[in-house]
Amino acid sequence: MADGVGDYIVGLFAREDDLLLALREEADRSGLPPIAISPDAGRLLQLLIAAIGARRILEVGTLGGYSAIWMARALPPDGRLLTLEREPAHAAFARRFLQRAGLDDRVTVRVGAALELLPALDGEAFDLVFLDADKAPLPTYLEWALRLLRPGGIVVADNALRGGRVLDAAATDPDTEGVREFNRRLAADPRLTSILVPTHDGVAIGVLGVR
Ligand SMILES: C[S@@+](CC[C@H](N)C(=O)[O-])C[C@H]1O[C@@H](n2cnc3c(N)ncnc32)[C@H](O)[C@@H]1O
Repeated sequence: MADGVGDYIVGLFAREDDLLLALREEADRSGLPPIAISPDAGRLLQLLIAAIGARRILEVGTLGGYSAIWMARALPPDGRLLTLEREPAHAAFARRFLQRAGLDDRVTVRVGAALELLPALDGEAFDLVFLDADKAPLPTYLEWALRLLRPGGIVVADNALRGGRVLDAAATDPDTEGVREFNRRLAADPRLTSILVPTHDGVAIGVLGVR
């Protein structure tokens, strides 16, 4: 998307407040990689949360808590967000900012590798699952999402375009292959109504059928 269009959308619909700006500045200073979602993706997640009245959210890939704050702000006071993060330093940073945002009562950061933490969630039901960690296992994360979502729930994945690499037949690295396979499955699964929205780096969305 042309930068001007993106800036126009963010300026109108997805302005960051001082806390989100401070989080990004401190994340840069602390050496966290600059790979948080874009503000328009944050707003899109909020829209989805509001549309289905989500109360329970699972995120895979916390980083500094930027997307968690966007999502948790769209939850009702009794809503809960569980976010999984492999790096203890990222989790500590996120916890600090979730506290500053007054959202630490709503958000739990659990430290560990997602594929090791997910089995413990079996039997729980989430309204929305946001996948934003490593890309190679995305097809497996999709299986988990479909297992953990309630009917009518939504699975979302960021970086569904991987900077355009999904279109490049010469790009066969495991991360790109993981995203491609995820997108193929999301598009083809008869249980899902799905689309890839070309915002920023691509946000893929699938709604699990009610029937
Ligand atoms: C793209 S960043 C997440 C950005 C965050 N969702 C945001 O928008 O603010 C990916 C995060 O996933 C974490 N991660 C990568 N592989 C993981 C895994 N297998 N299990 C849990 N976390 C993982 C990384 O340490 C990193 O913090």
